[in-house]
Amino acid sequence: MDRRRFLASAASLGIIGVWATRSAVVSSRVVWREDRASFPQGVASGDPDDHSVVLWTRRPFDQGERQALTVEVARDADFRSVVARARSPVLAAADWTCRALVGGLLPATTYWYRFTDDSGAGSRVGRTITAPRASAPRPVRFAFVSCNSVNEGAQNAFRRMIWEDERAPADRKLGFVLHLGDFIYEVVEYPDEVPHRYSRTVYDMGRIPDGRKVGNFHVPTNLAGYRHVYRAHIDDPDIQDARAHFPFVCIGDNHEFSWQGWQSFIEYGGKIEPAQPLRVAANQAWWEYIPSRVRKASGPGLDQFGPPEVTRAPIETLDDHGFGTEANNRTAVGSMTAYRALRYGKHVDLILTDFHSYAMRNPGERPETDVFDSSFPVVPQELMEIIDGGKEYAGGNPPATITIGDKSAPNFRKDEPAYTMLGREQKTWLKERLTRSTATWKIWGATNGTLDMRTDPQNLPAGLTKDKWPGKDFGAFGGGDFSGAFSERAEIYDTVRDHKLSGFVTISGDRHSFWAGYATPKLPPAGFDPVGLSFITGSISAPGLAEAAEYYKDFPLLPLFVRKAPDAAPEATINLTIKHGVRAALEYAASGDIAKARAVTNPDVAPHLEFVDMAGHGYAVVSAGPDAIDTEFICIVRPITRAATPDGGPLRYRVSHRARLWRPGTPPKLEQQVLEGDAKLSV
Ligand SMILES: [Fe+2]
Repeated sequence: MDRRRFLASAASLGIIGVWATRSAVVSSRVVWREDRASFPQGVASGDPDDHSVVLWTRRPFDQGERQALTVEVARDADFRSVVARARSPVLAAADWTCRALVGGLLPATTYWYRFTDDSGAGSRVGRTITAPRASAPRPVRFAFVSCNSVNEGAQNAFRRMIWEDERAPADRKLGFVLHLGDFIYEVVEYPDEVPHRYSRTVYDMGRIPDGRKVGNFHVPTNLAGYRHVYRAHIDDPDIQDARAHFPFVCIGDNHEFSWQGWQSFIEYGGKIEPAQPLRVAANQAWWEYIPSRVRKASGPGLDQFGPPEVTRAPIETLDDHGFGTEANNRTAVGSMTAYRALRYGKHVDLILTDFHSYAMRNPGERPETDVFDSSFPVVPQELMEIIDGGKEYAGGNPPATITIGDKSAPNFRKDEPAYTMLGREQKTWLKERLTRSTATWKIWGATNGTLDMRTDPQNLPAGLTKDKWPGKDFGAFGGGDFSGAFSERAEIYDTVRDHKLSGFVTISGDRHSFWAGYATPKLPPAGFDPVGLSFITGSISAPGLAEAAEYYKDFPLLPLFVRKAPDAAPEATINLTIKHGVRAALEYAASGDIAKARAVTNPDVAPHLEFVDMAGHGYAVVSAGPDAIDTEFICIVRPITRAATPDGGPLRYRVSHRARLWRPGTPPKLEQQVLEGDAKLSV
């Protein structure tokens, strides 16, 4: 893109566009004195393309509504080769956050940037990297992460990521960090009320202004509340350093709005409330604190969000995709459109979706399902499939009555649309992006896990439990994510197959656990027919299921979750339960012999899984080249306190999963290599 076109398009978008000069590279003449106290949340950069990037800082002023900062971009960290300089407004209306779009940059190039106010007080220096050109054959390397809780953990994984990147050779450095959501946790504990949860120390994030108490948590009720929570997360030194060191590409998950929320509904204690102003506030705070190119309803300017006026009106009617037709719901959700795609060189199309703004209410959370509650920690798969499919179940022939074991109830879903997390328009867009992609790897950043999480309770030994397993065969854990959206997932995967797409990969967060495997629309006994690869990253810091299980009260099925041997750390047998079946987990819990446990694997439980670790924290790194893709899991020890060493503390393991590019119609195959440490219950 040339200068005139960039500036014209930036101007037409209402954006302060800054065009880098290539001819007159000069040393900075700005008087800059680093003053981190004046820029308390540091700097960040987001959504780089092959010639531009959005730069960010926050400079709170005591007075006025509007001030200006000078932003500079240089080829070196000492600003001897400045390529761009501009004035950028910073507004009280945006909580004094500031964004500048800088264009005219070279592709796949590292730059440094900083902001300075008129007194000479300057931000720290940030580093960013532009994307390679769409024709560039170089491999793309990036990290994907999710779920950083500053309330209950330490962000040592970011420290490790920076430490490794600074020591990596040029061709092994990360191009960007993809954050798949739960960048904040809006559910905040106060340490004087809740000093500990599981093995965690609760850290003080301050008081949420106008917060609302929900159980042990306090949640925001307005914009000031969300802004407080963002600042408390970015005040963390490791998060702040990571944002200054790497460009970030972010998409929110549930906690950016509300733990159990969807569209502009919130739900606490089984009570659903319309919350249109809260949805707008959540979107606004995200937009203010995360530099990106997402669309907002107020138009394209980068100076402020421009929230629409909405009221808390009841949302009573739903369209044929379960979306609330009430005008304030449409306006609130439409205030920001976060789903988008980014191109990285010849090999990567990164397609990001939003699983909560357009989702139907999860039918598995509805009280009509309570009748089927059992003493088992899993739900019969056939029940989940019936309530997922709605009127589309069994080719449009849903049963009038649902019968599970000796319990029956009317099928409350038989006249309702199939469950959707994507919503109509986003799904159409996703299919189009996938089928039109010309990149070697079509990488779908699906914030919620896509890999089935199930086991085989039909194989529990007789007498272990008081009740008999009521299901036909397999049982699924939860279903709160895309792995429980059976029909919609099959629709996307069938699209991949029908269009003979190769290089289809899903990457997710949210589960607080590491998973590697295959994208398949069905599992035994229905079949197994993968169309791509799927990976899920462990949380940066938020606690996961295996940790929670260490605190479960004893019950007959506890060995399916955790093994507590005398004088040994608890071990996550849940990994075996999911990957190898209940008999393998019970064997290991009894004997501690992994070979004996693997010998009783049920191969039909998880042909789609090569790796699962419900106890892992850290991050994942993808390397995508012309012939193969490699996803490495870098797992750190449980991040309870901030690491004392600059490497972020010890690793538990580093495991690589590599697949060669497959021909359409042939199944992909992962090769696993444990590069460091011990991952024995996960493989
Ligand atoms: Fe999370």
